[in-house]
Amino acid sequence: MDLRRRLLLSNLSLLVIPPTATALLAALVFGALNLFPGAGVGFADFEKAFRLRTELFSAAATVWRESPDSVATEEFGKYITARLEGLTAEVLVEKSGVALYATDGLRLSDVAARDGAESGSGQAPALATRTVSIGGVPYVLQAQRITFSDGATGTVYLLAATDRRIETAEVLVVSVPVTFVLFCLITVLAYSVRTSRTVSGPLVRLNETVAALSEGQLAREVVEQGDEEIRQVQRSLEKLRLKLQESVAQRGRIDESRRLLVSSISHDLKTPITSILGYVEGLRDGVADTPEKRLRYLETLRAKTLQVDRMIDDLVFFSKLELDQVPFDFQDVDAAAYFAERVEENREGYARDGMAFVFEDRLPAGAAVRIDRERMKRVFQNLFENARKYRRGVTGRISVVLREAPGRVLVEVRDEGVGIPKDSLPYIFDRFYRADASRGKADGSGLGLAIAKQIVDGHQGEIWVRSTEDEGTTFVVSLPVAPAGGTRTEEA
Ligand SMILES: Nc1ncnc2c1ncn2[C@@H]1O[C@H](COP(=O)(O)OP(=O)(O)OP(=O)(O)O)[C@@H](O)[C@H]1O
Ligand SMILES: [Mg+2]
Repeated sequence: MDLRRRLLLSNLSLLVIPPTATALLAALVFGALNLFPGAGVGFADFEKAFRLRTELFSAAATVWRESPDSVATEEFGKYITARLEGLTAEVLVEKSGVALYATDGLRLSDVAARDGAESGSGQAPALATRTVSIGGVPYVLQAQRITFSDGATGTVYLLAATDRRIETAEVLVVSVPVTFVLFCLITVLAYSVRTSRTVSGPLVRLNETVAALSEGQLAREVVEQGDEEIRQVQRSLEKLRLKLQESVAQRGRIDESRRLLVSSISHDLKTPITSILGYVEGLRDGVADTPEKRLRYLETLRAKTLQVDRMIDDLVFFSKLELDQVPFDFQDVDAAAYFAERVEENREGYARDGMAFVFEDRLPAGAAVRIDRERMKRVFQNLFENARKYRRGVTGRISVVLREAPGRVLVEVRDEGVGIPKDSLPYIFDRFYRADASRGKADGSGLGLAIAKQIVDGHQGEIWVRSTEDEGTTFVVSLPVAPAGGTRTEEA
């Protein structure tokens, strides 16, 4: 439920439930009473009860108004009896324990013992009402204290005959407001219990969670509970928590990769530099003693220096890619034309080295991909290079096949080289990873595939490998098809 509806409902039910419940209960009691003969209470009984109370009260008011001495006279007694006519009323005025005036047959002993005044000295209330039975007849007895001019105290007793039904009516009249208040309390209580379950409780827990998060306890999940608005807050907080957790983890990964980078750089640069040092010392010490030898030494030095230079370039490029520092320059290009161009620009150079290209386009005409042309070039340069470096024997063949998959263009680069050992396969896209056999033989830093993967990832693409040792390796680059209507560059 949402918070607004809950508030509205709680206010409405406070308006509706107590009166309805009270009315229902009253009707029930009323109906139940009417089942017993003689116990039934009718409208006339309520009226009588009301009249009885008001008449007695107004008589009391008259007594207050009159001077106490005149109250003790017979005229006043008659006047009051006349006023209470129709109620079957009796009057008795007492002064210092002696009855000064009484209606026929009423004795002081009938009333004095029953008004409760005698028991406590001087604590009797100014006006006390109770129900008594005199000669088997129930009466409402009202005792009113007065002080005469001579300082003596006395009591005015007013009696009005009542009956069971009037008494019941009186009880009912008093019960209704009490019941109403009771129902109000119950409703309020029920709603505050509910509100605390669905609003306050979840808010308190939410607050605890936020406190825990701010202390860095990011593993603590934000539980969804309570009303809709609170759930929304919890959902947003949970998203925030996941993001935070992810960014903390990413920072950890970056730190880790930085450590690895530093140690790998030192290791991988050391090998060519040691060898450069060897050749330089050879030259200095005159080991290369003929001009031809010296030239060979210098050529080797140049090659090693170039290798170091390339490694440093790769490293710089890779860390830029990893830190997302160089933006991609995406263009929609015709896939077949673009990849044919990659093959053609390398065909001649590779042929000189004994490598032949086979190009096969199985794409539907006009299939386009959105790529950064220069970066993608680098991916395929490394794949071709790998096929050449890790070939079997002196010649080899590189097949480039373009295929279509739902929403994707797949580019396969297949070779018939040495293949990759099964236990190396999971690591070849890691930076600096080189299968053991490759380390001694071919030049390289082991960054080529890591760079390729970063670039392909930047294209929302995927790259994966299949390989069998001594048979060959196939790399597959999967790129999303460019959405129709993009800027299209036709290949020359
Ligand atoms: N076509 C392939 N045939 C056999 N092994 C391969 C092939 N491609 C990659 N590998 C293995 O995967 C490793 C990682 O390749 P990657 O291109 O990342 O590094 P590299 O070629 O050794 O160095 P770099 O590309 O930085 O010059 C290689 O060292 C090699 O062991
Ligand atoms: Mg490589």
